[in-house]
Amino acid sequence: MGKKIEAVFKTPSQNQVLSDCTVFGPEQAKKAAAFHRSFPEYSPTPLVELKSLARTFGVGQIFVKDESLRFSLNAFKVLGGSYCIGNYIAKQLKTDISTLTYEQITSPEIKEKLGSITFVTATDGNHGRGIAWTANRLGQKSVVYMPKGSSLERLSNIQALGAYACITEMNYDDTVRYASTHAKQNGWVLVQDTSWPGYEEIPTWIMQGYTTMAYEAHKQLAGIKPTHVILQAGVGAMSGAITGFFSSLYGKERPLIAIVEPETANCIYCTAKANDGMLHNVKGDLKTIMAGLACGEPCGIGWEILRDHADCYASIPDYVAANGMRILGNPIGKDKRVISGESGAATIGFLSEILRDPTYSGIKEKLQLDSSSRILIISTEGDTDKENYRRIVWDGICSK
Ligand SMILES: Cc1ncc(COP(=O)(O)O)c(C=O)c1O
Repeated sequence: MGKKIEAVFKTPSQNQVLSDCTVFGPEQAKKAAAFHRSFPEYSPTPLVELKSLARTFGVGQIFVKDESLRFSLNAFKVLGGSYCIGNYIAKQLKTDISTLTYEQITSPEIKEKLGSITFVTATDGNHGRGIAWTANRLGQKSVVYMPKGSSLERLSNIQALGAYACITEMNYDDTVRYASTHAKQNGWVLVQDTSWPGYEEIPTWIMQGYTTMAYEAHKQLAGIKPTHVILQAGVGAMSGAITGFFSSLYGKERPLIAIVEPETANCIYCTAKANDGMLHNVKGDLKTIMAGLACGEPCGIGWEILRDHADCYASIPDYVAANGMRILGNPIGKDKRVISGESGAATIGFLSEILRDPTYSGIKEKLQLDSSSRILIISTEGDTDKENYRRIVWDGICSK
């Protein structure tokens, strides 16, 4: 495994019929955002403009959406889990999510109508915390399985929300299969943030929930159209949803979209590189500091969008994300500080390397990054593993 950034670019074909991404477009996003707005904790997460950093990097503007402030859960993931569970309940009640608010779904009347439900999922931490939080608010149960090597801090954050949670001896993808088997055996509802043939409705709802971030960012940009959106991927559900939103919003005039993954779990990159119409999985322990991105099997729905509506697929070593954490945590001039965890900082780390290291001038050129670029990035998590955050930012582990 090389310790270098690798990137593949799509060659656009004139006559290609693109997959429909309106299911993640502005109309759907508006609906998801309206549902999230009904939560008592809701407020849009900040969109931070890093002016000094943009000057230092030689680009026009850099905007970072700071998801560490999402519902006091330190990551964006609850948007997907809550919207999915909201839709599941709406379906049980034979109504549409747009008729339901947080107050209604948490009411004793609805709880009585629904009876007792157990939601089960596999997670590196952030998604499970969102599911446990939502189930807890609904007075329902949740079971959360985590892959081998998961952080004990992330485990205890989930347990603190009343979930039964444990760390398995399997990698992420096998833990997903384990959760799915237990769901079938026990009559539990599997709320997984990845899709496979025959399991598409729930992941679509989860992805639609993520579009609240794009909807908010678009409003906060107040007429500024980004030229670039850089997104990190685990299974590619989040990046697929956000890509779908911007492609649906801007059509042919959409921003250039780059997807970033850890080199040890780069299933989207491998799938794009092979370009043979098949999904390409990565096996093994998927060891990386970017725990949220340690997934070896792409989400089918996410990949369809990324295949047709993204431009660049990159694979990065761990030190790139570690640098990203240090950059956002130690701002220049009057820039605001953003506390960004390992998975959250992967994209700013990628941008920094591409712009500052001449080795990557070819990638910089293909990405058309210059002084007129307006770049949107999402810091998808804060310091969800505080001890590791300090080890990286203070003690300098994981350096170039
Ligand atoms: C902090 C963080 N960022 C990004 C992602 C990637 O999302 P996806 O698996 O949908 O690609 C995750 C997934 O768990 C995550 O926890």
